[in-house]
Amino acid sequence: MDSCNIFINLLLTITLCFFTLPAGAQIVYLYTYCPNSTTYPVNSIYDRNLNSLLSSLSSNSTQKNGFYNTTAGQDPSNTAYGLYLCRGDVAMDVCQDCVVTASKEIVRKCPRNNESVIYYDECMLRYSNKSFFSQVQYRPWLPILNTQNVSEVERFMRLLEKTMNDTAARAANDQSGSGKKFATGEVNFTSFQSLYTLVQCTPDLSAQACNSCLHEAIARLPSCCEGKRGGRSIFPSCNVIYELYQFYRVEATAPAPSPVPVLLPPAPRSRGKSQISTGTIIAIVVPTVISVLAFAIGCCLLVRKSRKKFNTTLEDQSVGGDISTIESLQFDFGVIEAATNKFSYDNKLGEGGFGVVYKGILPNGQEIAVKRLSLYSGQGLEQFKNEVVLVSKLQHRNLVRLLGFCVEGEEKILIYEFVPNKSLDYFLFDPEKQGLLDWSRRYKILGGIARGILYLHEDSRLRIIHRDLKTSNILLDADLNSKISDFGMAKILGVDQTQDNTNRIVGTYGYLSPEYAMHGQYSLKSDIYSFGVIVLEIISGKKISSFDQSDDAEDLLSYAWKHWSKGTALQFMDEALMDSYSKNEVIRCLQLGLLCVQENPAKRPTMGTIVLMLDSYSVALPMPQKPAFFLHSGTNQWKELGPNQTASKSMPCSVDEASITEVYPR
Ligand SMILES: *[C@@H]1O[C@H](CO)[C@@H](O)[C@H](O)[C@H]1NC(C)=O
Ligand SMILES: *[C@@H]1O[C@H](CO)[C@@H](O)[C@H](O)[C@H]1NC(C)=O
Ligand SMILES: *[C@@H]1O[C@H](CO)[C@@H](O)[C@H](O)[C@H]1NC(C)=O
Ligand SMILES: *[C@@H]1O[C@H](CO)[C@@H](O)[C@H](O)[C@H]1NC(C)=O
Ligand SMILES: *[C@@H]1O[C@H](CO)[C@@H](O)[C@H](O)[C@H]1NC(C)=O
Ligand SMILES: *[C@@H]1O[C@H](CO)[C@@H](O)[C@H](O)[C@H]1NC(C)=O
Ligand SMILES: *[C@@H]1O[C@H](CO)[C@@H](O)[C@H](O)[C@H]1NC(C)=O
Ligand SMILES: *[C@@H]1O[C@H](CO)[C@@H](O)[C@H](O)[C@H]1NC(C)=O
Repeated sequence: MDSCNIFINLLLTITLCFFTLPAGAQIVYLYTYCPNSTTYPVNSIYDRNLNSLLSSLSSNSTQKNGFYNTTAGQDPSNTAYGLYLCRGDVAMDVCQDCVVTASKEIVRKCPRNNESVIYYDECMLRYSNKSFFSQVQYRPWLPILNTQNVSEVERFMRLLEKTMNDTAARAANDQSGSGKKFATGEVNFTSFQSLYTLVQCTPDLSAQACNSCLHEAIARLPSCCEGKRGGRSIFPSCNVIYELYQFYRVEATAPAPSPVPVLLPPAPRSRGKSQISTGTIIAIVVPTVISVLAFAIGCCLLVRKSRKKFNTTLEDQSVGGDISTIESLQFDFGVIEAATNKFSYDNKLGEGGFGVVYKGILPNGQEIAVKRLSLYSGQGLEQFKNEVVLVSKLQHRNLVRLLGFCVEGEEKILIYEFVPNKSLDYFLFDPEKQGLLDWSRRYKILGGIARGILYLHEDSRLRIIHRDLKTSNILLDADLNSKISDFGMAKILGVDQTQDNTNRIVGTYGYLSPEYAMHGQYSLKSDIYSFGVIVLEIISGKKISSFDQSDDAEDLLSYAWKHWSKGTALQFMDEALMDSYSKNEVIRCLQLGLLCVQENPAKRPTMGTIVLMLDSYSVALPMPQKPAFFLHSGTNQWKELGPNQTASKSMPCSVDEASITEVYPR
């Protein structure tokens, strides 16, 4: 598995999928959102209504503003609601082709689902048994990126945000009378490169709703597309796109020739060449490659989707009619909205792999942290509620408490206790602040983390594997007690916990054990590995991910191993610790850290043993074996993922999974 190479896989994928392209197709398919959790019976009233809805959308596909919403059915409980939206710049005949195709394909790709969304480059079409007109919907989130890099990343991202903001303002307050909430923008980036932006909302939204939707889409761009030449952030209600070439059609010019797919490796372009002369080549080739890529990825996502199985029944854990508990944990959406000032940007605390976190204050003055889930949850509402109830019962002083949840339409929100200090990484890796954590504090923090995990692993009745332990998931309260956050997410999101391998890896590269990262096998010992990485980070004050940035530096694990085997443990230690340390403790912790990151999971200690080792110096530690340096073999593909990317976004080892690097629904 060490030869897995994203580029090769991607090309292979493109090639495979390219040949399944229907002849003459001009419309580029992107993705279908197919929740599958609720299906209707064939020949039911809803089935018939849906059919008539889709044919009415098709036959009304020549609307001037490229948008049409309608309903079918009288009886409210069987009404089908639907709309289509064509990209603001496409010609009416293309729009019509796209909508007609979409209305056929949506039932083929997503049979008998109560709701679904299908995306093409040129249009999107969605339906549901619930009314969603005039409502902003943030799920699913579909990011797509152009794999080519941009120069001057920081300046580019600032320019992008500003230009996007300007374009969004024009789209939301569209005065052109076109009936579209659509705008494009163009600014100079360098003397020979311009940045092109396109934003659009479904016109049923109010100006204000459109504005909020676009800002959320813009705010998420950095998390998919930082430093990339092009990207898209797509919600059902709105989307934003940017590229360094003019990808949209400008009114009054001849329509661009339809792309002829060309297979080109997405290799970096040499910089020495005259950019002006390559401008046209880029403009022709890049859109084509992207279209093909996008198609390939969409195509393969589907393949992947169909292989994914969510086992939503977890044995021995049913809540069994615990309705009162569910009720007491459920927060009203209005209350949460008010508490977070409508999820205002100012209240944003951060963004993790599972969504954006906001600070909120309840009417009674209680401070809370509100996590707006962006990952698609593979299970129905009841199951989600049940899992939240179970996870909220996990209570320990070293765990962040889950207070409840809130559901609004598609949107799922978790409410946690608010922990006033920031996360461990905030202190540990900041040269200004790492001095605040002297050795005895670090040792105390370590002990807290260990006890928290021990509770998850052994003491609670659920036996939870955290699966994404890292310093940014360890919060510190005012007394610097460690509190682990984000546990139980696999459960809440309905990722199967009962098997020992999975198609969907949650976790962050660098912290993932080799067997988990490479083969998707997880166990309690995968958490032990991540804990070992945290131990080494705490001792050294160095980030696991900081190493692969510098050119030839070794990684944290081999660095630790080198000092351990040479008997120079104190040189591995963070200089900021000065003489606050206990030599004996530092050496034991280094040994413990190395024991935890051993390649053979069976050789790693259990959490129970670790707590014992930390509490008592009289427990003898075994000799560690050299860790596996699998992540830093010098090959490119790991860096491609970026140091802090959550692995659920990208899986390196097979064709369909590699493609997730480019498109990932949330
Ligand atoms: C799907 O929608 C129809 C129409 O609203 C409804 O009758 C049916 O119960 C829904 N299916 C499920 C599984 O809830
Ligand atoms: C939409 O299509 C239906 C038939 O499918 C037709 O009856 C209706 O008039 C059309 N609406 C518009 C606005 O064209
Ligand atoms: C389309 O959406 C608008 C805005 O929500 C709504 O007022 C209108 O009734 C919808 N049209 C149909 C045919 O349902
Ligand atoms: C729509 O279907 C969902 C299940 O998908 C069901 O819970 C809900 O009651 C249905 N809504 C209406 C209005 O029938
Ligand atoms: C983009 O930049 C990353 C590092 O920032 C590098 O690893 C990668 O190879 C670059 N990709 C391309 C296509 O140039
Ligand atoms: C863009 O808009 C957001 C939200 O209104 C704002 O927070 C941000 O500062 C703006 N950025 C720029 C560069 O104008
Ligand atoms: C962008 O650059 C071109 C050529 O250098 C120049 O003619 C044009 O005015 C510039 N546009 C803006 C908006 O600055
Ligand atoms: C959803 O339904 C489609 C069509 O039956 C199926 O191919 C796919 O595997 C299902 N997806 C999931 C996640 O179960």
